[in-house]
Amino acid sequence: MRRLDKIYLGTNTKMYKSIADTVEFLKRLDDLTADISRNLLELFVIPSYTALDQARRTVKEEYIKLGAQNMCWEDEGQFTGEISPLMLKEIGINIIEIGHSERRHIMGETDEIEKKKVSAALRHGFTPLLCIGETLEQKNYKISDEILKIQLKVGLNEVTEQEAKSIWIAYEPVWAIGVNGIPADEGYANEKHGIIKDTLIAMFGKDIGSDIPVLYGGSVNPQNAEPLIKEENIDGLFIGRSAWQADNFYKIIQSVLPLFKEKRKIF
Ligand code: PGA
Repeated sequence: MRRLDKIYLGTNTKMYKSIADTVEFLKRLDDLTADISRNLLELFVIPSYTALDQARRTVKEEYIKLGAQNMCWEDEGQFTGEISPLMLKEIGINIIEIGHSERRHIMGETDEIEKKKVSAALRHGFTPLLCIGETLEQKNYKISDEILKIQLKVGLNEVTEQEAKSIWIAYEPVWAIGVNGIPADEGYANEKHGIIKDTLIAMFGKDIGSDIPVLYGGSVNPQNAEPLIKEENIDGLFIGRSAWQADNFYKIIQSVLPLFKEKRKIF
């Protein structure tokens, strides 16, 4: 089965939900989505660190994969305030989100740092979800494509073809994210996903490169989720605010699933 025969839908709860809120959210989401075949849907949630352990006890990974919002590239050492891959493994999480725009632009992470995190995640058997995207300034200079290529070529620099089979990418234009974000229109997003896919094919070959899921993120909402998912190059959605209530997230899941099946001709 190709990886792209599934739709990838997930949310990063950023620095919002407490342990209790996360557990309540996951229970509700688990209940609402219990009947949806996981052959068709890869559903994931990326809560805050403090909620991860309880989150893992709350839902089974066959139904909802869990991710960490960040991770140190070293296993242990003098890295006060950092979280090791071993600690995340101990909890039993699946995905490591790497290079979210808030990590890059508020915390000052560079492509080189993301590269180390991607390699460490792979070494420990996690799925790295590498987030990339241009700023508004870069978009205005018309260098978005170059920026995306650099972020991929540096971030995935040490990744082998074999390892590329477990990578996911999120395209999240910085100008589209958060309360002040303007969502990218579906045509623009699809075009950039095309650039990303071409770059992945150039790096890992046609078979492996074209099978890497590329998700769109940045002000996804109930209105734009459908047109986005209809686009050929958009394999899933990485949602913030619009997914933080389980019922709202479920409505988006329900609305995009049939469109995805139609697009991939799955009956
Ligand atoms: P948003 O967040 O949907 O609230 O814009 C997206 C993200 O940061 O991944």
